[in-house]
Amino acid sequence: MGTDYKDRIQQLRRELSEHNRRYYVDNAPSISDYDYDMLMNELIALEKEHPELVTADSPTQRVGSDIEVQADGGESGVSREFAHLPHRYPMLSLGNTYSMQEVKEFVERASKGIEDEFSFSCELKFDGTAICLTYENGILTRALTRGDGTIGDDVLNNVRKIKSIPQKLSGEGWPASFEIRGEIYMPYKAFDALCKEREDAGEVPFANPRNAASGSLKLLDSAEVGRRGLECTLYHMLADELPFETHAQALKAAKSWGLPVSEKSRICYSLKEIEDYINYWDTERKLLPFATDGAVIKINELDIQKHLGFTSKFPRWAVAYKFKAEQALTEVRSIDYQVGRTGAVTPVANLQPVPLSGTTVKRATLNNAEWMEQLDIRVGDWVYVEKGGEIIPKITAVELSKRPLIAQKPQFPSNCPDCGTPLVRAEGETKWFCPNQWGCPTQVKEGLVHFLGRKAMNVLAGDATVAQLYELGLVKVSADFYKLSFADLYRLEGWKEKSCQRFLDSLQKSRKTGFEHVLFAIGIRNVGETTAKSLARHFGSIDALSSAGKEELMAVGDIGEIIADSILKYFASPVNQDNIQRLKEAGLQFSMVAEGPKDNVLNGGSVVITGTYSISRDQMKELIEAHGGKASGSVSAKTLYLLAGEKPGPEKIKKAQELGVAIINEANFYEIVGEKSVVIEEKELTLF
Ligand code: IVH
Repeated sequence: MGTDYKDRIQQLRRELSEHNRRYYVDNAPSISDYDYDMLMNELIALEKEHPELVTADSPTQRVGSDIEVQADGGESGVSREFAHLPHRYPMLSLGNTYSMQEVKEFVERASKGIEDEFSFSCELKFDGTAICLTYENGILTRALTRGDGTIGDDVLNNVRKIKSIPQKLSGEGWPASFEIRGEIYMPYKAFDALCKEREDAGEVPFANPRNAASGSLKLLDSAEVGRRGLECTLYHMLADELPFETHAQALKAAKSWGLPVSEKSRICYSLKEIEDYINYWDTERKLLPFATDGAVIKINELDIQKHLGFTSKFPRWAVAYKFKAEQALTEVRSIDYQVGRTGAVTPVANLQPVPLSGTTVKRATLNNAEWMEQLDIRVGDWVYVEKGGEIIPKITAVELSKRPLIAQKPQFPSNCPDCGTPLVRAEGETKWFCPNQWGCPTQVKEGLVHFLGRKAMNVLAGDATVAQLYELGLVKVSADFYKLSFADLYRLEGWKEKSCQRFLDSLQKSRKTGFEHVLFAIGIRNVGETTAKSLARHFGSIDALSSAGKEELMAVGDIGEIIADSILKYFASPVNQDNIQRLKEAGLQFSMVAEGPKDNVLNGGSVVITGTYSISRDQMKELIEAHGGKASGSVSAKTLYLLAGEKPGPEKIKKAQELGVAIINEANFYEIVGEKSVVIEEKELTLF
């Protein structure tokens, strides 16, 4: 019982890291912001109770990362190939709350000990993807995504295609060199047009405008970025010396230089005015042509901002008040039961179309049989739908007062809606499954689509192509893709020389895809992207993995009994063994290839070392210099990283936290500089 909280802390960290990845890297979150924030709050509370367990890489201490660290050469329309550049100033996130009481506490905390009159800048919280622009002598010279807050992806070429962002400033009075940060977002109109286009092309639409914006910003084809209708709003100027006294003056000047700045901000002088601003926009935002998810309250005076400083993750001078997800009330017309790649059957309600947060909702998930029971849902009921991060919104409650007299209670099917096989439910599982893994057409097709997917083999093909290849009997297992000839593809409806060649080229390129992606692609149940990566790194090859026993598998961090059993089951199947053999013969990567070091990634930045490492401090200094950094002994606002080894100096940690300098551990450092050859065990770092 005594160590339960330790397990819970570990579990929350794992879950939050996975959700960070889905949100920032995949642009495909699987839980709502609200649910995410609740998990984060639980972890914050546990770490507060047990400060001795706080680690530098806990999600409470780090901002989520949108950087993809990969070793393969796969390519589709979305890039894995942007240069990673360090931020001049750490790019932090905001502390957030759903409670007005906490806004009050923020105002009180911030006001403590400040004698002079001061004000707050209240702004909309734009729901897009963060961007950091650098202007030198009035010219746009850099555009970085947030990345992990210390290193971002260089997306300048794409940002140049966004019309509202000037390449050259107008007016006068700008600092010779400054950064301005903001949000790139996709207005609803552009989002709807893009979703329609993708649906027509048989592609999966984006879940929401935020994902569409960050997905679009990471496209390889800049011309396509230009067509997507992205917009930008800027809300935070930074420089070594800013010639302004307040944040509002800085933004006013930015506007006069031609930079896009929101018109909806307001300067407030009291809690009452802040509350009025929040309440007004909580309603009024529904009429805006773009998505917002809250209000941001910032201290307006720059000297007070400086005095309050930062924690390792947030400024102490700002807070975000998040609006609760919008709900809509509508009628259930019918319920479908959908089979997925793993055979899981999910009930989905077809609804009377209803507008919700800028789009029209027609379908909503009912999760599983248990949730249906709990809701006691009937066809004909009126239900509340809410949009989380998912593509399909969820039904959260039934409005019993509107239940019609004759409302039919739905019957969860006992047989697979696709192939008719009796469904099974394992002990402890909430989902019913179709066990006909090799014969159920939907499962096979979904498995093939998964194999080609962007995070897997990254082959350019939509669901409709896979369906045709399957129905013509050309592809039954993934290895069949690599046997396809030009003539086979030419048989597909609507395919000409060009499309056939493009598909073959894309397959050819996929042969170089890194082992970790291949391992994810082959679709072992319960092995998601992150698990595939840990397994690939731990075992190094498919042969080592497939011959590992249960104990060996469970020795890998994060692998529990359920995943270990799935892996064993997968490799025990002759169909899988045969498919893997054929994929090997087709030339796919079934072992890890070491990634080369990145020469100048530190770009002149200073790295302060503290504590001990698995190599000597001198060797560590050499490594820092070899990657273009300067090794230094003391932390200042200009420090790029504090590299904390074992037993780090508490003073340095404290100073770095105060100044908002990124604290990284040895493993993080090797990842940043691409030194995979240095083998270390990941050690937990205790902060003081
Ligand atoms: S200020 C150091 N202002 O929300 C403070 N952020 O959830 C920098 N955001 O990281 C942020 N609208 O990406 C600020 N008016 C606004 C914003 C805003 C949207 C984003 C931003 C931030 C995130 C936190």
